Amino acid sequence: MTTRTASAAALLAVSALFGATACSPTVPLAPTTSLFERLGGMQNLTAVVDDFVSKVSIDPRSRRTFEGVNLVRLKASVVSHLCSLSGGPCKYEGDSMALAHRGMALTSEELQVMGEYVGQALIRRGVAKQDREELETILDKLAGEVVNK
Ligand code: HEM
Repeated sequence: MTTRTASAAALLAVSALFGATACSPTVPLAPTTSLFERLGGMQNLTAVVDDFVSKVSIDPRSRRTFEGVNLVRLKASVVSHLCSLSGGPCKYEGDSMALAHRGMALTSEELQVMGEYVGQALIRRGVAKQDREELETILDKLAGEVVNK
């Protein structure tokens, strides 16, 4: 290869590289951190759970199943569950969702009330829309194990 063809080849390679970057479609990049981290880690998650469990357990539309329940224990268990589901370092050791809600006959309205408070708590704690939606999707998938049991 002459010096001239070598530098032409190098130029071609460089422009191909830049060309590829410039022409890449603008799809949002997949997050590189776990959802747990994007929720703000343990400190923020604890505050979020404290917030929404406190609200859902006193709202007249959703409070009926919380009578006599130890809220401190429940909040700790929900934190561990969400931490584990979002890729955090916790190992959830409580009951399965079906067992935990067995006999409660929870309605989809009660679930919706909880969902609203979860969303509001996440917003108050500065969690980004994309990350809120990711958690919402995880919770939606559990709805069938929780409602009408
Ligand atoms: C996808 C939705 C839900 C998830 C992921 C969830 C998660 C949990 C978790 C992790 C526990 C603790 C279980 C244990 O410590 O063994 C729990 C218990 C409980 N959940 Fe839920 N929950 C959901 C929906 C609801 C709703 C909509 C209500 C009522 C409005 C509710 C009321 C309760 C109550 C009252 C307990 C305490 C049961 C007891 O200690 O006797 N949950 N839930």
